[in-house]
Amino acid sequence: MAKAKSAFFCQSCGYESSKWIGKCVSCGEWNTMVEETVSRTTNKAQPFARQSTENTPILLNDIEESGNTRILLKDQELNRVLGGGLVLGEIILIGGDPGIGKSTLLLQMAIHEALKVLYVSGEESEQQIKMRAERLGIHNPNCSLLIETDVTQIIHHALKLTPQVLIIDSIQTLFYPEIESAPGSVSQVRECTALLLRYAKESQVPVFLIGHITKEGSIAGPKVLEHMVDAVLQFEGDRNHFYRLLRTVKNRFGSTNELGIYEMQGSGLRMVENPSEILITNTDASLSGSCIATTMEGLRPLQVEVQALVSTAAYGTPQRSSNGFDAKRLNMLLAVLEKRCGFRLATKDVFLNIAGGIKVDDPAVDLAVIMAILSSNADMAISRAFTFAAEVGLSGEIRPVNRIETRILEAQKLGYTHVFISEYNKGVKTEIYSIKVMSCRKLEDVVKNVFG
Ligand code: TYD
Ligand code: MG
Repeated sequence: MAKAKSAFFCQSCGYESSKWIGKCVSCGEWNTMVEETVSRTTNKAQPFARQSTENTPILLNDIEESGNTRILLKDQELNRVLGGGLVLGEIILIGGDPGIGKSTLLLQMAIHEALKVLYVSGEESEQQIKMRAERLGIHNPNCSLLIETDVTQIIHHALKLTPQVLIIDSIQTLFYPEIESAPGSVSQVRECTALLLRYAKESQVPVFLIGHITKEGSIAGPKVLEHMVDAVLQFEGDRNHFYRLLRTVKNRFGSTNELGIYEMQGSGLRMVENPSEILITNTDASLSGSCIATTMEGLRPLQVEVQALVSTAAYGTPQRSSNGFDAKRLNMLLAVLEKRCGFRLATKDVFLNIAGGIKVDDPAVDLAVIMAILSSNADMAISRAFTFAAEVGLSGEIRPVNRIETRILEAQKLGYTHVFISEYNKGVKTEIYSIKVMSCRKLEDVVKNVFG
């Protein structure tokens, strides 16, 4: 019997080394090398000696386009993040915190879509999955379940059953019997993915893989896993809040700017077609310290509510705290308010929150942040019919933001009466909109228009 060989693998990037090293030379992480047993076939491929005629170069022009290569799903949010439906033979990795709803999302897809699906679970028993399926309602007579962790068995069953979609929950529980290391280790994850990848490409069946994520938030296992698959989706959200965001991190067949929004209910995940409905508190009375911004998540406009609380500092150093918005950016905006607008905020505590627990990273919320702070400071409410979409520069100037037309149209659709934008947003035909477009040049202009 051949002697079992072992090698050290970096658990972060998958780098292989014959000796243990403290710091991975490839990604620079410390203490990530773990010994794993590998068995290798000795006959190495010899690219120059090979005489095979199986695959020969073809002119790009000679390749015929195959007709319909996408499966349109009923789930519009999934369709959107996948770039317009499932591509035949693609392999999709879905990552997310434990308990966020990855299994629910895919099981729901398995039983709601009119497709022949094979759902493979290595984490739950048949009864547990059945119970969950009962909760989700609507049954697909063509959905089969397999409790298995041996990847060769899974592929064997998949080849026999010929499903239209294969779902694996999760890639970290699978193992390939030829390799001795434990499930979830770099070589197992890599090898199992490679086998499933081959299955997907050869049978043209789209495969979903659920992946665990590490403490740091990256998908457990090597980075190579993300390189191997066609699309990486991240399922995120706050467990204390009900909605979940499905983000595209990588997509070979679509844009990575897409975002799907779901609401977790007692009976599964509901698609949220109009996200602004859940992000904005429905109150008729205007409250001070609250202001609505029109942001973009990818190509999708989103209204978010910015809340600020300004109070007299109890201690010498004022507190600055921000939730869902970059704290450095908040400090910068406060400095702008001090310097350019003469507000004495140095003795005030400022707390900022983006309602609903989401994180925004769009410069267009700047103006709403400033307005929310001013509103709380003066205890004067801003009308709920106003929305803001502009960046604020260091000299207090209102700066233009991208996709302004989309933002204005969204605000108009949702029934806002005024939208505040930068005067430097060139080419905006304000007269074509029924919503009043307020083009401002300086912070003072906005303040004058809002507070009178
Ligand atoms: P799950 O899909 O098991 O998470 P993951 O696979 O990402 O670890 O999600 C479980 C959570 O979702 C659990 O906290 C209960 C909740 N849930 C609902 O609120 N409604 C439902 O209909 C279902 C099935 C789960
Ligand atoms: Mg799960």
